[in-house]
Amino acid sequence: MVISFQQHIVQEQNHLLGSSVELQWLLSGIILASKLIQSQVRRAGLVDILGALENTNVQGEIQQKLDVYANETLITCFRQRASVGVIASEENEHPILLRRGSSDAQYAIIFDPLDGSSNIDVAVTIGTTFSIFCRPENADADDPLQWVLQPGSKQVAAGYVIYGSSTVLVYSVGNGVHGFTLDPSIGTYILTHENIRMPEQGGYYSINESYVAKFPGHYVEYINKLKSGALGKSYSSRFIGSMVADFHRTLLRGGIFLYPATGDFPEGRLRLLYEANPIAFLAEQAGGAATNGERRILDIEPTHLHQRSSFVVGGKFEMEEFERCAREAREKDDILTNQKRSRVEYTG
Ligand code: AHG
Ligand code: MN
Ligand code: MN
Repeated sequence: MVISFQQHIVQEQNHLLGSSVELQWLLSGIILASKLIQSQVRRAGLVDILGALENTNVQGEIQQKLDVYANETLITCFRQRASVGVIASEENEHPILLRRGSSDAQYAIIFDPLDGSSNIDVAVTIGTTFSIFCRPENADADDPLQWVLQPGSKQVAAGYVIYGSSTVLVYSVGNGVHGFTLDPSIGTYILTHENIRMPEQGGYYSINESYVAKFPGHYVEYINKLKSGALGKSYSSRFIGSMVADFHRTLLRGGIFLYPATGDFPEGRLRLLYEANPIAFLAEQAGGAATNGERRILDIEPTHLHQRSSFVVGGKFEMEEFERCAREAREKDDILTNQKRSRVEYTG
C-alpha cells in the first residue's frame, strides 16, 4: 500500500493533541515549505544562491543565502495557516505574533530553517527541524514568548526534513515516529519508514572530537569506553556536522550523538527549542533518550528563545551507559567537594 504524508496525518488524527483538523493543516505546511526548500538545495551551485550574506543572525553567525531563503519560505507557508499564532526561528531574534487575539490561532511553531549551514556550500546533507506547541493555558496570548517558552514535554508534534541523497521527512505526534521519502517524480512524500524504533545498541558514536581537550572529563571517559570495546563492541566514529543528519543516522542505525559544553560554548552549542527539543521528542518516541548531561531534555523549562544546551541523544543502551558515567562523575565531584569542605572546617 502506498501512503502519502497527507494520508498519514489524517490517519493519526485520533492521536493529535488539540484540534486535529487544524493541526493536520498546520503540519501540511511543512510539506509545501520543504519541497520549495529542497528544490533550491538541489539547485545550489547552479543558481546564485550559494554563499554567505553580509548579515549575521542573532547568534552572531554569518547567514548563508539558503538559510535566509529557507527561513522566509517556512514563515510564508506557516503564516498563511489560520491556526498559527506564533512563529519562532533560529534566524529571527524575536518570535512573530500573528492574528493577535484570534481564538483560531492555537499553535506556535518553532524551527531551525537550515541545520548544518557549514555544509551548504559543499553539497553535504542539511535539514530543517521543527517543534509545535499549543498556546499555553492562562498565558498572555499577546506575549509570543509565553507561547514558545514551554518544556519540550509539551510538544504536540515535532520533526525534521533532511536534504540528503534523498529528501526525507520524519515526524511524530506522540504516537511513534514515521519517515517519508519524497518521490521527486510525483512530488509526493511516501511512507517509507513506519514506526521507527532505534536499535537498542548501535555501532556508531558521533561527536566533534577536535574539542576533546575542552570536554568535561566524563565525556572523555565515555568515548574511550565506546572506542575500546568496553561496552561489548568497538564503536566507529561518524560526524557530519549537521546535527539533523547525524541524528537521522543514529535514529536508523543506533548509537549516540553528543555535543557537550566546550570552551567556546560553555552551555553547549546546540539550541534547546528548535534543535534539541524536537530531536529529543523523536528519540524518546523511537525508544531512545536525550539529556543535557544532567537532566532529560524534555523536562527543561526554557528561559529564552535562543538558549543553548549540551545535548546527548541516542539508543537505550548507549544512553544508559552515558547516564552511568555522568552519575559517577557527579558522585566523585560531590565527594571531592565534601572533602574540601571538611578540610576547610578542620584547618579553619
Ligand atoms: P546551524 O547550521 O543551524 O547553525 O547548526 C549547526 C550545528 C549543528 O548542526 C552541528 O552539529 C554543529 O553546529 C556543528 O558544530 P561544530 O562545527 O562546532 O562541530
Ligand atoms: Mn542548527
Ligand atoms: Mn540553522
